[in-house]
Amino acid sequence: MVKICCIGAGYVGGPTMAVIALKCPDVEVVVVDISEARIAGWNSERLPIYEPGLDDVVKQCRGRNLFFSTDVNRYVGEADIVFVSVNTPTKTRGLGAGKAADLTYWESAARMIADVSRSDKIVVEKSTVPVKTAEAIEKILAHNGRGVRYQILSNPEFLAEGTAVQDLFCPDRVLIGGRETPEGQAAVKALKDVYARWVPEDRIITTNLWSAELSKLAANAFLAQRISSVNAISALCEATGADVTEVAYSIGKDKRIGPRFLSASVGFGGSCFQKDILNLVYICECYALPEVAEYWRQVIGINDYQKSRFVNRVVSSMFNTVAGKKVAVLGFAFKKDTGDTRETPAIDVCRGLLGDKAVLSIYDPQVTEEQVRRDLAMNKFDWDHPRHLQPVGETAGQQVLGVAPDAYEAARDAHAVCILTEWDEFRSLDYTRMYDAMQKPAFVFDGRNIVDPEKLREIGFIVYSIGKPL
Ligand code: NAD
Ligand code: UGA
Repeated sequence: MVKICCIGAGYVGGPTMAVIALKCPDVEVVVVDISEARIAGWNSERLPIYEPGLDDVVKQCRGRNLFFSTDVNRYVGEADIVFVSVNTPTKTRGLGAGKAADLTYWESAARMIADVSRSDKIVVEKSTVPVKTAEAIEKILAHNGRGVRYQILSNPEFLAEGTAVQDLFCPDRVLIGGRETPEGQAAVKALKDVYARWVPEDRIITTNLWSAELSKLAANAFLAQRISSVNAISALCEATGADVTEVAYSIGKDKRIGPRFLSASVGFGGSCFQKDILNLVYICECYALPEVAEYWRQVIGINDYQKSRFVNRVVSSMFNTVAGKKVAVLGFAFKKDTGDTRETPAIDVCRGLLGDKAVLSIYDPQVTEEQVRRDLAMNKFDWDHPRHLQPVGETAGQQVLGVAPDAYEAARDAHAVCILTEWDEFRSLDYTRMYDAMQKPAFVFDGRNIVDPEKLREIGFIVYSIGKPL
């Protein structure tokens, strides 16, 4: 029986290993983590992450050939293939702070593998890492080993949150990079054999290590670039009377461009786009390629611009002041169908509105009040570097931040509604009921273009959508 161990039971490690276990019943898969709470969650009825379809997959194989444990040393020691799927956040201090990837967690995982290994292992980079990381990992493993041989593979993950299970069941491609030696190629084949149980062979791409590592950063940069491109055009639409949805549809009909990932929004969020582009920028700078670095930096520049443009629009539309006005915020997660709030645009928008003294009432079907408060209290990039937080949401004893049990409660007595996540339930709300319970004039600022502005205008709302005529 092949034994697989995955270090890191997060958004990637958990779902990926659950699907491998489901598709390969004869392989033992153990997911380990240093966080006891995370492992307890994976072993409970309420999984630590919300992902459609995941409960079902975990229930089918947990206790059969899928296990979650904090006994990191034991299961890493026993495994033939060790996936490393730990977090690789942006550095907050020291060399490359604010750009470079912080490989502290990765390095400690590699040192632990070296410490506990007694048999040869394939070590798989699942986390997104800077190009050339495999070289550094090889050095750590080789120096600490006791004659144990390691093959390092790069097998970046392309799943998106909210559709993780579907993406893992039916990936556009699986990418495996390895050394071009016979041993390296044998390791590539061993991992390919695992995926080949359910992924068609022509979708499993094998490359050299550096191409695989760089392809992951490049893929995220290209995806984010499309969003910044359409968001840049959305600003021009608002200035000219063009409609960004019509423009996106028209350009997306060109097969060379394609229709997907062209939805204008309040800005992209999530734990990876910004982090990975900053990482790419830093790598370019390190290789003395400032023009290339600057090109990619602009993708983030436009994203920041889009978020502040939204806040400015809210404040300027509401007669240049939101001070003391209740504003309902619908959606806090960085996209629908996830409870993940890492780098969500809602953080910057809420901070901007609080900075202008608005009183916020936030509702998200998957995000708790505790999480909202924690996110708003944190400095940029600190979410993956735990430290003591100052409370947020109180100004001179007055509560300026609340979390509501539903959208109607959030909007009661509010002057405005800001839609920041495209949850399906926000499309079918009874907006007339909401309007009746709001202060007048009542505003809707749709940061996801999910409501029909004309219908809402008929009800009486003043409506602002991204990139659409006012
Ligand atoms: P995460 O923070 O949800 O999970 C990482 C886990 O690793 C945490 O539970 C942490 O406790 C654990 N960990 C850290 N150091 C450890 C150690 N030394 N030993 C054992 N456990 C340790 O992160 P994630 O979202 O799953 O992302 C993981 C990696 O995958 C990142 O590099 C990310 O860029 C990449 N990625 C993420 C996504 C996504 O959608 N979230 C998609 C593709 C790639
Ligand atoms: C993204 C990539 O899509 C995955 O392929 C990749 O594996 C992952 O990053 C990663 O490396 O972490 P994810 O961040 O989970 O996945 O979600 P996306 O669907 O890409 O959305 C990212 C952000 O862009 C969200 O805030 C979303 O609302 C926004 N977005 C997306 C838009 O504003 N417009 C669009 O057209 C698409």
